Amino acid sequence: MRIPELFIAITSFLLANSLPFPDDDAVSLIWQFPNPTWIENLAVRINGEILCTSLSRDAVFMVNPFEHTESTVVQFEPGNGALGIAEISNDVFVVVTCQVDLATSSRIPGSAAAWKLDMNAWTLGAEDAVTLIANLTDVGLPDGVVALREPGVVLVADAGKGLVWKLDTNTGGYTIVIQDDIMLSSNPQIPLGVDGVHIADDYLYFTNLGDNILCRVSIDAAGNATDEIEIVAIMPAPDDFALTADGTAYVAGANQLHRVSPTGKVDVLAGGINDTTLEGATSAQFGRTRGDAGVLYIGTNGGLLVPVGGRLIGAQLLAINIDQFA
Ligand SMILES: *[C@@H]1O[C@H](CO)[C@@H](O)[C@H](O)[C@H]1NC(C)=O
Ligand SMILES: *[C@@H]1O[C@H](CO)[C@@H](O)[C@H](O)[C@H]1NC(C)=O
Ligand SMILES: *[C@@H]1O[C@H](CO)[C@@H](O)[C@H](O)[C@H]1NC(C)=O
Repeated sequence: MRIPELFIAITSFLLANSLPFPDDDAVSLIWQFPNPTWIENLAVRINGEILCTSLSRDAVFMVNPFEHTESTVVQFEPGNGALGIAEISNDVFVVVTCQVDLATSSRIPGSAAAWKLDMNAWTLGAEDAVTLIANLTDVGLPDGVVALREPGVVLVADAGKGLVWKLDTNTGGYTIVIQDDIMLSSNPQIPLGVDGVHIADDYLYFTNLGDNILCRVSIDAAGNATDEIEIVAIMPAPDDFALTADGTAYVAGANQLHRVSPTGKVDVLAGGINDTTLEGATSAQFGRTRGDAGVLYIGTNGGLLVPVGGRLIGAQLLAINIDQFA
């Protein structure tokens, strides 16, 4: 065997044994959480491990998608559900929590908080990697979080009040930065408005869960809107999403994965409204290592809000090869 062939053989062997799933069209199960568990949001570490916030279990879990192992990173005080998570510097994350009644989506006013999670300092069982940034007593229900370019500054979606806050994690100060009726839910069944937030090319993209829309607005470096909000696309119950640099959004919601092109064309790539494949899909994020760059990870609540056919299964972390849809 010549050296290049040997190299390819060894590489294929390693990949075959380390990739989260083979190169096929299936949705693969990476991790099954106990029933019931609600996973709300995902953040992928630079080393490929996936941080999963849990609304129902008041925790941040970490799944290694290559080894199919899981550990508890942070356990918050009982009742403080974990929602949005975003990286603010190398392996340092912001996590927001709130006391939420899962049955009614209502929150206890004044119970929101933001935490800094430093994975550089984290070891299993130790508590010192997580510190309080601020009690967000004016925030209704914090949901998605996204970092601005200014170090340590993030935007926080407030699904309850239907607006976006800017939080300086260095000082704990926070102010309203974007407020518009289009961020409010007008749906009495789902009183949750602006939910997922991500930035590409100086546009803030956001979903409004109750009103079934994905929108975008151009923002400046301070996070202020510089133009009118545009509706990009309409789809059922859009929750959180992954956003590529060209503005393609992969939106989890209504038990399916939607791909929204930069021009607003919507395709359902996997799952279905009455299908259990992506039951309770809440969030999506791409892998960050060479081995899983085309892999989209999807977190679910296992049907805790709307069980498909009455089936409740506990949260799942699923993986799907996005390159197959190119
Ligand atoms: C934040 O809120 C918690 C719970 O109400 C309280 O125990 C804590 O003292 C507060 N911390 C700050 C810095 O306000
Ligand atoms: C952003 O908007 C706020 C008011 O909403 C304003 O006070 C602030 O000066 C603006 N910042 C910039 C950099 O334009
Ligand atoms: C899903 O199931 C419900 C209840 O059985 C039914 O009313 C609805 O039409 C179904 N939707 C789709 C898209 O199949």
